[in-house]
Amino acid sequence: MTGFRSLKLSLRFIIPLVVSLGLLAIAVVPLVDKLNLRWFVRDMDMRSQLIANTLHEPLAELIGQGNKTKINSLLLRAIKDERLLALGFCSDEGALLYRTPTFPKSISCEEVPSDSKASSRILRLPEGAVHVARHHIVPETGAKGDLILVHDTSFMERRSADTRKYIILLFVVLGLVTSLITVFVAHLSWHGWMEGVRAMLKGEGLLKPFSPQSINSELQPLVGDLKTLMRSLDAERRMADDSTITWSPDTLRKLLHKQLTGEKIIVVSNREPYIHSNNNGEIEVHRPASGLVTAVEPVMRACSGTWIAHGGGSADRETVDAHDRVMVPPDKPEYNLRRIWLTEEEEKGYYYGFSNEGFWPLCHIAHVRPVFRTSDWEQYVKINQRFADAVVTEADSDNPVVLVQDYHFALLPGMIRTLLPKATIITFWHIPWPNPESFGICPWREELLKGMLGSTILGFHTPYHCKNFLETVDRYLETRIEHESSTISRRGQLTMVESYPISIQWPPPWHGALPPVEQTRAEILTELGLPADQLLGIGIDRMDYTKGILERFNAVERMLELHPELVGRFSFIQIAAPSRSALEEYQAFETRLYALEKRINARFTRDGRAAIILKAEHHEPDQVNRFYRAAQVCMVTSLHDGMNLVAKEYVAARDDEQGVLVLSQFTGAANELYEALVVNPYHVEQTAEALYQGLIMPEYEQQERMRSMRAQVRDFNVYRWAGRMLLDAARVRQREKLAARIGRVP
Ligand code: F6P
Repeated sequence: MTGFRSLKLSLRFIIPLVVSLGLLAIAVVPLVDKLNLRWFVRDMDMRSQLIANTLHEPLAELIGQGNKTKINSLLLRAIKDERLLALGFCSDEGALLYRTPTFPKSISCEEVPSDSKASSRILRLPEGAVHVARHHIVPETGAKGDLILVHDTSFMERRSADTRKYIILLFVVLGLVTSLITVFVAHLSWHGWMEGVRAMLKGEGLLKPFSPQSINSELQPLVGDLKTLMRSLDAERRMADDSTITWSPDTLRKLLHKQLTGEKIIVVSNREPYIHSNNNGEIEVHRPASGLVTAVEPVMRACSGTWIAHGGGSADRETVDAHDRVMVPPDKPEYNLRRIWLTEEEEKGYYYGFSNEGFWPLCHIAHVRPVFRTSDWEQYVKINQRFADAVVTEADSDNPVVLVQDYHFALLPGMIRTLLPKATIITFWHIPWPNPESFGICPWREELLKGMLGSTILGFHTPYHCKNFLETVDRYLETRIEHESSTISRRGQLTMVESYPISIQWPPPWHGALPPVEQTRAEILTELGLPADQLLGIGIDRMDYTKGILERFNAVERMLELHPELVGRFSFIQIAAPSRSALEEYQAFETRLYALEKRINARFTRDGRAAIILKAEHHEPDQVNRFYRAAQVCMVTSLHDGMNLVAKEYVAARDDEQGVLVLSQFTGAANELYEALVVNPYHVEQTAEALYQGLIMPEYEQQERMRSMRAQVRDFNVYRWAGRMLLDAARVRQREKLAARIGRVP
């Protein structure tokens, strides 16, 4: 088939080539004929001149003597030359006085050229063509006249015919040789092009960089165009997908069914979505304060499958089956939670140590130095391997779709890849990725990067974090990076690095089922013992130094300094869920926070109405939601944050289209929620001013801003986040299948 195609391709060149050569031959042959004739005539002229010069003197003498016999004998001797056919002598009066017997009868003295321009000519006689030349002879006495030299030119015809034959032969040989070369080159080129296009279809250049071996040099100028075309098709398809799809749990389910043929999803994270704890003999279920859980849990409910996580609750072991599994959510079971157990020592090294004393401050530029210990690293490696083994146990095929979550599992993608080479591994990094210099201080930087490059797709919240990651890999690993398509190739493994801004579920779970905002606000104010017209600000965070809570408190203090009329009229509620409190850094942070709260409240508490209400305890999502609805302003002042879902939750909570969001410019959310009052949390006055502006903002402006932010969170919800990753994964799987199929075609 390939041979036939390359022959067809060759014919496209050969047919015009043969036709052109034929036309060229037709044009060339008469030209060469004419040229030949001219050369022959010139030769004959020279020859005639030579003979005439030789005969001139004796002939003039004999004519002067009038010796006819001697003249005839002279002429007869002269025509012994094989080419000279005949000689004659014409008098000036036009009478043929002497001639050899061979002198053609058809030639008369008149026909002999006699003008001054030409002294010879070719005459076509019945016997054949002859060359006739004349040479004027002036004897001292006797008749003056011309010596007529007649040369046989039949050899010219023979030679012309031969030349014609050779020229035609030359053109035929030329045609044949060129055709053969063309067929050969066309065959090779066809083969090369096919290989190149095949490489393209396998995803090279788009999903992976072109390898110089797979694309031959003739195709190189086309590579750019092909890549652009493929990418624009991909982008168009993505855009079409994104703009036409309203992302919901149902869309996600359909996508899984259609694009991933109902593949079971396996999620891996450190934090579990439901924690069972023992409260004096009573088993309670909690939802942890975790952006990761907030985002991934609704996706899991939509997709089903298995979520593998650390079982850290005091009653977790009591609630699982023999395979350490429990169906969740507890009130409406929809997916499996597979718990992994860690000893205290393991948790200390892997979670508290390497993940949260090393990786966490390493990725968050928040002025807390990372600490790296070999013992922590060893636990980190060990626990990553334990989760990889659990993935293999939970997978029901050799190519499952695995969603690896966050910095606790940088090594996991590489480990899964070793155990299940055909798995589609989507890793999502929930925290920022630092610049190469900052990351470079990690003693195990190469191992971590190699582990992450086991992923098929590696997702970050923002393009900026993707760029940092690509630069880090470029700095510390031997890889090939295709910046245009954002892919990294290492030892035949391709990783696509893409930004997928995370979000929350839409519509929110309580949609349409909550009392009006005014009622909730009134209830909260009563619970807090505050008057009905008290203005409220809210901050919801884990007790973490990256969240900018100290900076936020400083801004509250400054705002009250600048606007004393609000002292006693405004309270800022800070919910700080206890987090990683086994770590010194976190304990110190908590101490500082309490001290700051105390100092500010000492200055600005009026009639029992505190400026800051610090609630350092866990709150379930529905409780948090009440505070969102009650507060006039929500403050998110992270010093560095991958996304920050509190910002989006606040927007989702405000179905009354009121409320103002003060948002740190160092969060991923600031890339999406433009209508927030965006601040630099390190700048106390700027943040204080934004808080004040939020409190006095007219209702119509609040509505405009909130409406626009709600549309953004609605359209770019968490189903879209997961859907885009799964769509990309489906495309990669399709490409791999196609590549495998094409690879088998001979
Ligand atoms: O923000 C990073 C992150 O790991 C999230 O993924 C998660 O929501 C949060 O921190 C909670 O951390 P932890 O699991 O340590 O309580």
